[in-house]
Amino acid sequence: MDALPSFYDDLDGFRAEGWRCLAEGVENRHSPFHTPSLATVDAAGRPRLRTVVLRAAEAGEGRLRFHCDRRSDKARELAESGLAALHVYDPPAKLQLRLEGRARLHRDDALADAAWAAALAMSRVCYGVEPAPGTALAAGDAYALPDEDPEARIGRENFCAVVLTVERIDLLYLDRRGHRRAVFWREGEGWRGTWVAP
Ligand SMILES: Cc1cc2nc3c(=O)[nH]c(=O)nc-3n(C[C@H](O)[C@H](O)[C@H](O)COP(=O)(O)O)c2cc1C
Repeated sequence: MDALPSFYDDLDGFRAEGWRCLAEGVENRHSPFHTPSLATVDAAGRPRLRTVVLRAAEAGEGRLRFHCDRRSDKARELAESGLAALHVYDPPAKLQLRLEGRARLHRDDALADAAWAAALAMSRVCYGVEPAPGTALAAGDAYALPDEDPEARIGRENFCAVVLTVERIDLLYLDRRGHRRAVFWREGEGWRGTWVAP
């Protein structure tokens, strides 16, 4: 039988493992943490889900960043509610991570400029799509993308960086010898947490 992971009965270590996985997900496109599911609520209170690419994870600040088109449904829902949740399950690691927090959209500030500057040309072109994301089309290919020019600012006006300030973390580790689940919430500058029944 496999050795138990170091965080198995270590509450602080469990939280640190969650942030370690998120940081790894930013760098490693093969990690399940690279492409979490993002949940929002629409104006009628209905839940909405979609995949996003995780672009930054700062454990110290408890913040995450991803990017989207400011014309998209998700941008509208995030702006209206200010709320978001993320979910990842890593099957080989048998680790589920759920995060909830407050989302802030950065469209025209220094943070958005820096995120745009760091984005690859192949990512930038997506923000130049016409018509806007979600618009009904007469045919599947009835949309246009700009050329991949690394110097071009086409799409910048539609680009939006979203920073999620995490307020609650729910970690679940599956193991035949006994699952481990813990919940953490912000308290002041730090985190409080407790083991909970899985
Ligand atoms: C692997 C993968 C990564 C994606 N990454 C992003 C992303 O980083 N940002 C984004 O806005 N949409 C991303 N998408 C597309 C969204 O999942 C979604 O289909 C689209 O943005 C429309 O969502 P909305 O109507 O809820 O705004 C990704 C989709 C996949 C399958």
